[in-house]
Amino acid sequence: MRGAETRASLPALFDLTGQRALVTGAASGLGLAIAEALLDAGAEVVLSDSNAQALDAEVQRLRQTHAQVQQRVIDVSDGAEVDRHIDAIAAEGPIDCVFANAGMSAGRGFLVEPGRLENVDPAAWERVLQVNLTGVLATLRASARHMKPRQQGRIIVTSSIAGMRSEANSGYAYVASKAAVNNLVRQAAIELAPFNILVNAIAPGPFATGINGGRLRLPESAERMRIYIPLGRIAEPREIQGLALLLASPASSYMTGAIIPIDGGASAR
Ligand SMILES: NC(=O)c1ccc[n+]([C@@H]2O[C@H](COP(=O)([O-])OP(=O)(O)OC[C@H]3O[C@@H](n4cnc5c(N)ncnc54)[C@H](O)[C@@H]3O)[C@@H](O)[C@H]2O)c1
Repeated sequence: MRGAETRASLPALFDLTGQRALVTGAASGLGLAIAEALLDAGAEVVLSDSNAQALDAEVQRLRQTHAQVQQRVIDVSDGAEVDRHIDAIAAEGPIDCVFANAGMSAGRGFLVEPGRLENVDPAAWERVLQVNLTGVLATLRASARHMKPRQQGRIIVTSSIAGMRSEANSGYAYVASKAAVNNLVRQAAIELAPFNILVNAIAPGPFATGINGGRLRLPESAERMRIYIPLGRIAEPREIQGLALLLASPASSYMTGAIIPIDGGASAR
């Protein structure tokens, strides 16, 4: 049966040896943690980011322990640039898995004055949508184009629980972009299912990363967020790795169109 994995041993279910992956927004935070998990599982990984300096620093560090690391400076808000790079990666060999992870904050939510509806800045709104929504579309489109002829592939989008319901701590453009991304994922999952291309989203709650100037890394943020999170704490970036590996590996062969929260229970309230 096409798409069904033959019975694999438990370690083989999570083994990515021989696979090639691309991660966008991989110079920091969740993207970097995802790239490290894929490398540890045996994949060859292309880390990409718009921040060339940070990307190079992380890739040089990873090269000390992993041979199969490459880097590409890609700004996902530029669709032509995304096409060009993904075409070039595909020309070097098949792309098995793509994490459309790059994203940006839209600042604080409506609990503070600058985050209120009347203060939404049109230019900032456009920029957030360009990166968080149009950037994901560009990455998805270019990846699918190369995966379709092979009749296989995995595309995993980093969304947010802020796309599943209202989120008082996040800016308007952010919640709107992530909600749109969730339906983009569902729509693409249905179109691409006949091609055995699986499209899923990870929907994180608060993780201590560099997003929004590293605000979530501050002790006062951790303290403030604690009351919203049943597990009572903000997550560390490495805690994304298990879910990322599941979605990239043979273990998730029957999953597509899923938006999976990883949020310490926050969205269950
Ligand atoms: N940290 C959280 O609490 C949280 C929660 C929910 C969702 N997310 C999502 O996780 C993803 C990763 O964010 P993070 O928390 O690791 O933040 P981060 O700031 O640590 O990492 C984001 C990376 O994306 C890169 N980037 C930004 N704009 C880009 C662009 N136009 N093109 C290419 N790269 C770009 C940045 O340079 C950075 O290296 C984002 O999509 C974010 O919305 C994060």
